[in-house]
Amino acid sequence: MPRDDGCADVLTTLRAATAAEHGQVESTLALMDPQLSRERLVAVLRRLHGFWAAAEAGLQGWAQREPADAAAVQWDRRRRAHLFAADLRALGAGPGADAPELPAVEDTDQALGRMYVLEGSTLGGTVIARHLAGLPGPGGGLAGAAFAPYGGETGAMWHAYRRVARAHVAAGGDAGRVVGAARGTFAALAAWCAPVGASPGGPA
Ligand code: HEM
Repeated sequence: MPRDDGCADVLTTLRAATAAEHGQVESTLALMDPQLSRERLVAVLRRLHGFWAAAEAGLQGWAQREPADAAAVQWDRRRRAHLFAADLRALGAGPGADAPELPAVEDTDQALGRMYVLEGSTLGGTVIARHLAGLPGPGGGLAGAAFAPYGGETGAMWHAYRRVARAHVAAGGDAGRVVGAARGTFAALAAWCAPVGASPGGPA
């Protein structure tokens, strides 16, 4: 695994520690499938909406307890459960009723770990949004606002998150707890998405 900046910093560890879960979620969702049907896309978006709503509720509680840390990472700008709902509306569908039970966000270590998963998804998200926009058929042409919420500022928002996470650890934050929360979030996402996984080897 190449290292960013010559030392095993928290971002490098986060990436390595969650690579397997990332691969699992990516292949379960199978959003890059050229045959992705409207039905599967709606099912996936409902699942992701429920997940984001639950994940953001935990982060919102933290933001109220730690407003300075939340402001430093621009928490208010990073919320996007409503964008999954908007994407569903654009497909003529409503959000699902279910949401997963997620571990509590106790402190800024755990908030930054959870946010790693949510924010990192905007990187692949730009690729996914382009793909969805180009799909033929009734699921096609979706703007995919939830996957690319920052438009041309994706890199800047990711860079800002990384800077805050590194500064937090440099100032005494517990990197192990950050990584533990990211792994827990990713594992919960993988389990939550399993029921809407593409059938292996078969068309969606
Ligand atoms: C909701 C589901 C997803 C989540 C939570 C997620 C999460 C993440 C995270 C945390 C990163 C940052 C990795 C780092 O530390 O650099 C990342 C990067 C990335 N993801 Fe995903 N991802 C998701 C779905 C996908 C899918 C479906 C694809 C397929 C196109 C994908 C492709 C990528 C790519 C290309 C990167 C950039 C890797 C790089 O810059 O080296 N992701 N994702």
